[in-house]
Amino acid sequence: MKPTLLTLSAMAFAIGSLSITNASAQDAPVDFEKQILPILDAKCMSCHAKEHEDNGRIKKPKSGLALDSATAIMKGGKVEPEKTVVAGKADESWLLKSLLLPEDDDMFMPPKGDHVTPEEQALIKQWIEQGANFGAWKGNE
Ligand code: HEC
Repeated sequence: MKPTLLTLSAMAFAIGSLSITNASAQDAPVDFEKQILPILDAKCMSCHAKEHEDNGRIKKPKSGLALDSATAIMKGGKVEPEKTVVAGKADESWLLKSLLLPEDDDMFMPPKGDHVTPEEQALIKQWIEQGANFGAWKGNE
């Protein structure tokens, strides 16, 4: 059977929908506050919020990395501060790299709790590739 225009466009559509894990800078802009912050809130913030009191005890962000403000995210943690988020370069950014490591790696994030799903990883990747824009969000400065 010769492929018709219809089957060809159906195939193009199927391939297009697979590209979710290959997110690129050309896709619709990711909204940090609506799409990325909820992931960080649910899966990272229990260990990476800025120093605060919790049940009468001072809780510091793990590895010096707070993810609850734009300034803190860009300031980074102790290991490689300038590489927490490298705008435009997801593959160099620990915010993404730490999610993709083998689970038994010390740097695999999050070390406890629900993993970041492939769809969420794709969003984070896309957000960094698009320039790591926080929009109007400043967070808990
Ligand atoms: C249960 C606590 C916990 C949770 C939850 C957690 N982390 Fe971490 N994080 C750590 C610890 C501990 C380290 C230090 C690891 C090391 O140096 O071996 C760390 C280090 C990091 C670093 C390196 C910081 C540096 O010093 O440069 C990044 C990036 C990071 N985490 C990102 C994340 C992200 C993104 C999430 C959510 C998906 C997350 N973490 C969730 C405990 C946590």
